[in-house]
Amino acid sequence: MGTGTVLSGRVRKDLSEISNKTNSNGNIPVTKSIASSPENRSKSRKKIQRRSKKAVISPVQKLFETCNKVFADGKSGIVPSQENIEMLRAVLDKIKPEDVDVSPNMPYFRSKSVGDRSPIVTYLHIYKCHKFSMGIFCLPPSGVIPLHNHPEMTVFSKLLFGTMHIKSYDWVADSPQPSSDTRLAKVKVDSEFTAPCDTSILYPADGGNMHCFTAKTACAVLDVLGPPYSDPAGRHCTYYFDYPFSRFSVDGVAVAEEEKERYEWLKEREEEPEDLTVMAMMYSGPTIKE
Ligand SMILES: [Fe+2]
Repeated sequence: MGTGTVLSGRVRKDLSEISNKTNSNGNIPVTKSIASSPENRSKSRKKIQRRSKKAVISPVQKLFETCNKVFADGKSGIVPSQENIEMLRAVLDKIKPEDVDVSPNMPYFRSKSVGDRSPIVTYLHIYKCHKFSMGIFCLPPSGVIPLHNHPEMTVFSKLLFGTMHIKSYDWVADSPQPSSDTRLAKVKVDSEFTAPCDTSILYPADGGNMHCFTAKTACAVLDVLGPPYSDPAGRHCTYYFDYPFSRFSVDGVAVAEEEKERYEWLKEREEEPEDLTVMAMMYSGPTIKE
């Protein structure tokens, strides 16, 4: 889209400027006498400053441009190539909280739980198109994003600061079910992560497509979804209850005793969790130029 074109246009323009400065023999002309005047030196300095200003792009702009390439396909269930995944991971690995203007001092990270309700989670929307979305979840201590799925998506999650417990699952393919809304899943991750740590990636069928986040301290997570949730496209966010393997006995489903802790039943919740409140707020970091 726009930015890639602008960049390549600028490169072409700079090259043409250089070629215009060659003389009729094709050699670079002697410019010493012109450049030595104070006025021209000042003009040259300003020109160089203007060019270097143009060349510097913010980390979030870089992220946007990389997502544009990586999720160019924009179709459900299409996993980017390994090369593209590594390219986006490398960009996310370098992003720091200050690059997206978040810090633990912000009020979003101080909200308290009221009664049984979890503390309010804030979502800072950065960008969304039909191919991908980018945003930051801000969780106060004890904040929870309940177990949910990412149908047909590839998702990159970068913990910007804080300590978070992540539990994630993948479906066990072709397993008999105790009921149409309950399926067997295998635990992929059940650990605490403290920033700075590697960007985690989940895929349509593996990598922990269903996950639950629990903030141990104030946490900020930068999430990139490709493609994003879309009801018209059939990519709904579904929430789940999790039950131990021993909860249901199903013909044809057998797991070794020592493996039982790694399998759980996930049952679709009919409604969104009533104790989940997500407030959408304006992202205040560097703007994105499309
Ligand atoms: Fe998620």
